[in-house]
Amino acid sequence: MLVVSVISLKGGVGKTSVTLGLAGAAWERGLQALVVDLDPQANATLALDPAKIGYTTNDILADARAGVLLDAIVVSGWGEGVDVVAAEAGLELRNTPERDGALRLRKAMRGVEDRDYDLVLVDSPPSLGELTRNALTASHRALVVTEPSLFAVRAAAAALEAIEVVRASNNLRLRPAGVVVNRVRPGRGEHEFRLAELTDAYGDLVLTPPLPERTAIAQSEGACVPVQRWRTPGAREVAAIFDTYLDHVLRTDPADGPLSTSGRRR
Ligand SMILES: Nc1ncnc2c1ncn2[C@@H]1O[C@H](COP(=O)(O)OP(=O)(O)OP(=O)(O)O)[C@@H](O)[C@H]1O
Ligand SMILES: [Mg+2]
Repeated sequence: MLVVSVISLKGGVGKTSVTLGLAGAAWERGLQALVVDLDPQANATLALDPAKIGYTTNDILADARAGVLLDAIVVSGWGEGVDVVAAEAGLELRNTPERDGALRLRKAMRGVEDRDYDLVLVDSPPSLGELTRNALTASHRALVVTEPSLFAVRAAAAALEAIEVVRASNNLRLRPAGVVVNRVRPGRGEHEFRLAELTDAYGDLVLTPPLPERTAIAQSEGACVPVQRWRTPGAREVAAIFDTYLDHVLRTDPADGPLSTSGRRR
């Protein structure tokens, strides 16, 4: 079982869409996936549309007893194969001033590895604050999402640095899974320039191909179905890309060793 958190410094860059795209790719392959929605905006929860919600990530983090997350797992509206731990829309995480604040999710997730999940995806809020630190502390891998903008290199650098800080302080197994560049419009000079800049800075950490701007992503989310089920050319194109990303993410062995500080493999 591999735990992957999806993070970014900025809002609206596509974390939730990448989380759902990977969950859909896993679902299509017949793998068992669990999506943990740590974002109080609850966008992943909305798109995964579980029929009933009991406990939420808010309850789990407030409680933080070992294994308590198991009680909050429900089947998503996508059906068997994709489960979800829902977020509670609008509720911010209560302040956890304890020194173990960032360890709460990891502790709550104890025992999940004994379930049949191949992949656990943690969707994070758009900041590198307490909730994202919880996500990173509970993960083997972190996938950084960014857009091809002026701030992309800096935003990716900040996210990779956050990964490194958490790795060094309380999770030695954590490694970056890569940088997804989202909403790229091929043929747009600015985007191609920013993509080249990111590739210069982060080499093969930048996943290829980048994710293009396609309305199928927003449409399928709005309809609460995986983009893999959306029958348009744009949907097929992004489904194929998410499948490539899933391959990339799954290729990494959870037991793999540490990284150099730049985030590149040694
Ligand atoms: N490649 C894309 N093409 C078209 N629309 C996209 C693409 N990626 C994301 N979107 C849409 O853009 C909006 C923001 O994306 P998303 O919710 O995935 O970002 P986020 O990083 O999770 O945002 P937040 O930081 O608020 O959680 C959504 O409506 C989503 O459907
Ligand atoms: Mg989101």
